[in-house]
Amino acid sequence: MASVKPDVRIFEDLDTLSHAAADVFVESAAEAMLQRGSFLTALSGGSTPQALYQRLALTPYREQVDWAHTHFFWGDERCVPPEDLENTYRQVHDILLAHVPVQPGNIHRIRSDLPPEAAAEDYARVLMEHAMPPLEWPRFDLVLLGLGSDGHTASIFPGSDPNPASAMLAVTGEYQDRPAQRVTMTPPVFNSARRILFLVSGEGKSAILADVLNDEANPERLPAQRIRPLDGQLIWMVDQAAASRL
Ligand code: 6PG
Repeated sequence: MASVKPDVRIFEDLDTLSHAAADVFVESAAEAMLQRGSFLTALSGGSTPQALYQRLALTPYREQVDWAHTHFFWGDERCVPPEDLENTYRQVHDILLAHVPVQPGNIHRIRSDLPPEAAAEDYARVLMEHAMPPLEWPRFDLVLLGLGSDGHTASIFPGSDPNPASAMLAVTGEYQDRPAQRVTMTPPVFNSARRILFLVSGEGKSAILADVLNDEANPERLPAQRIRPLDGQLIWMVDQAAASRL
């Protein structure tokens, strides 16, 4: 099946972008609930989605999501214990999950307290438990992703394996001063999603965003180009600063 063209939406700033992203989250949840009775989302880390997570915990968004039937997965994780402030699960827990009526059994965190290879294997098994055959993983209703200024997304870094053998990989990715040991879903898992939403903010992302969206395909250098849903929607929500070189 042919890939779908990206839909790039530009917002004044991170605040308006986060409102719009919260609307997409609510709509995606409602559609999934109506059609399949549950909502499966894969979340991202980093600073950009924090305002979205905050909003979802507040009125009016918190009343618009059927939290009891929402399943939370993580597209990637930093291999530090869940108590660590750099842990993505921990960040989402503190901002969002602790404030909405989720079912603890529906929170599928990556076992970042295990050694990275074991955490990747464990999460591949979790994905298999929720698999939607013929896939060996669930078909996510909504995947959130960010973009690093080096072109990475989730923890798929430049030079990553173009043909990963598994749904989950343990990787090392030096980026800023963030934990380098990571566990990540691989492109086939993301690309089977029904909807993928990239959130990109700030002038510091403008050059790489222009490269990812406008340059010829070079996924070795620009891993975010590996995200091409097979039969789903790809939305880029970017603020004016990030969009300044498009
Ligand atoms: C993480 C994510 C990573 C992130 C980008 C963008 O660090 O947890 O895996 O892919 O989304 O690095 O991060 P910012 O939103 O902080 O720019």
